[in-house]
Amino acid sequence: MGETLTDGAPTLAQLTAHVAAALGGAALGGADARREAEALLVAALAIGRATLLAHPERRIGGEALARVRDWTTRRMRGEPLAYLVGVREFWSLPFSVTPDVLVPRPETEELVRCALALGDGFDSRGDGSDAPGRAPAVADLGTGSGCVALAIASERAHWRICATDASPAALAVARGNARALGLAHVEFLEGSWYEPLTGRFFDLIVSNPPYVAADDAALDDPALRHEPRLALTPGHDALAALRRIVDGAAAHLRPGGALALEHGADQARAVASLLVARGFAHVRCAPDLAGHDRVTCGIFPSATTGPP
Ligand SMILES: C[S@@+](CC[C@H](N)C(=O)[O-])C[C@H]1O[C@@H](n2cnc3c(N)ncnc32)[C@H](O)[C@@H]1O
Repeated sequence: MGETLTDGAPTLAQLTAHVAAALGGAALGGADARREAEALLVAALAIGRATLLAHPERRIGGEALARVRDWTTRRMRGEPLAYLVGVREFWSLPFSVTPDVLVPRPETEELVRCALALGDGFDSRGDGSDAPGRAPAVADLGTGSGCVALAIASERAHWRICATDASPAALAVARGNARALGLAHVEFLEGSWYEPLTGRFFDLIVSNPPYVAADDAALDDPALRHEPRLALTPGHDALAALRRIVDGAAAHLRPGGALALEHGADQARAVASLLVARGFAHVRCAPDLAGHDRVTCGIFPSATTGPP
């Protein structure tokens, strides 16, 4: 931060300008450096944005100023604001986040929307028959903070939802989020993909797995350097985790069950091919808010042998 802020108690207007300049200078925030600075100040000072904008003359000193300085330095090194604050909003719910979990991304809300639409198909059969709907069984593989499983649970309290992750530290964060959100009925299991689900069948499997190749320059981004490697990359083959999940789905989906996967913006065609190759029908991609195909889903054929 600028020299002028080391002495005395700067005003909110001065702080905003200095933090924005510091973040812009560190190539963080770019054109949005001011908005980024405002978000940092709102969180570090525990004030509303309206207060920040309405009281530019208010002076900040002591511990509050020290926290702003510390957080600005850490943001300049690429630490996500969500790790500094300890919370990120997803699906309008507050999720605790630590460096053990991926920071939930807005585009992942599309996966939640797809999951709700697919699961509703089981809940209210809608197949013209008199068969009553039933609460679908849902698995979320690679749950991280638990954001996908818990967002679904927040919307459909009666669905049976189970979430897995290979990282015990991530699962501890997810379980904490489930308690804090009053969604303690969601089950969390440790293990690699389907490993903790032996002998269990689901109507819907969802996942946002790691899908960036280990040698992809994108991983050098300062923001990504602070997130768990396990959450970002499955190794040198960007599709390795997606392939593993598609290949294993047949052993865990009920006939007519659905698989919905988030993936990179340039992977939609490859993921759709994986699904088609495994016999999935009605394979389609859903665009995120920026218009990129980021979620691909398919229906497991009901004509195959499997559990009732
Ligand atoms: C891209 S993050 C997604 C986290 C969360 N679902 C979200 O959307 O924010 C991928 C998650 O998969 C987990 N993961 C990586 N490899 C795994 C494996 N072999 N088995 C289970 N989970 C794995 C990571 O720990 C991480 O939490």
